[in-house]
Amino acid sequence: MNASVSLLRPGAGNPATHPQLTDALRARVGAKAAAAQALLREAVAEFGSQGELAFANSFGAEDMVLTDLILANALPIEVFSLDTGRLPAETYTLIGEVERRYATKLKIYFPDATAVETLVRSHGINAFYDSVELRKACCGVRKMEPLRRALAGKKAWITGLRAAQSITRAGLPLREFDSANGLQKLNPLSDWTEAEVWAYIRINEVPYNALHDQFYPSIGCAPCTRAIAVGEDVRAGRWWWENPESKECGLHVKEG
Ligand code: ADX
Ligand code: SF4
Repeated sequence: MNASVSLLRPGAGNPATHPQLTDALRARVGAKAAAAQALLREAVAEFGSQGELAFANSFGAEDMVLTDLILANALPIEVFSLDTGRLPAETYTLIGEVERRYATKLKIYFPDATAVETLVRSHGINAFYDSVELRKACCGVRKMEPLRRALAGKKAWITGLRAAQSITRAGLPLREFDSANGLQKLNPLSDWTEAEVWAYIRINEVPYNALHDQFYPSIGCAPCTRAIAVGEDVRAGRWWWENPESKECGLHVKEG
């Protein structure tokens, strides 16, 4: 058996989630964490006092870095999550761990029950596999509508997006106006590498989703996420049956 095959065995070590913590990597992560912290504090000064600033937490590795930067430092930033009703069991386990570790109860938004019932009755329980339109309709009901409620009354939101995650995210700035949602959007980890994210998690012993060790670098809903093979793009396991160009659920569309 060659090395790359053995890496794919469930339970075998995943080098992506265990970067070698060299002095250079530690120094880079320290500097980037300080810069991210500074951006978060600037955002708090600008938007935080009236509860107009929120962090969208999907519990992916990047979001666990931000969760730690925000909750361990008790920054006055609302942390919310969208529970689509189709998340993997491992994500719910992590949500419980986060609540225990940071002694908090998380703000979780659920989809409108009637809208989900209507969609499922019309198109079936797993209709997202049938067409891009039906997949987007499911994301619309399970993510977009709850996101609109979560962002109502907010002036800025924080995400864990990174520019290197996909072609649809190349050139992502630290801060931009999100015209689709009508508020400022901050991406404090936009210039972080995957290795830097994992170094932060290891150095600070931050809890994370067990699926990451099983070659799931990007985790969304269970039926729309699979493990990737060594060398595949980090988002190759999301909506893997679609073209890379259509692989956004609508939370992060670029207009214009
Ligand atoms: S997605 O658009 O393809 O689903 P991805 O999983 O890469 O997005 O996450 C990018 C960012 O979107 C996360 O860092 C987080 O800020 C936000 N996000 C995605 N899914 C959720 C969710 N279920 N709840 C809250 N925020 C989310
Ligand atoms: Fe529906 Fe899949 Fe979108 Fe989740 S990722 S909301 S299951 S289409």
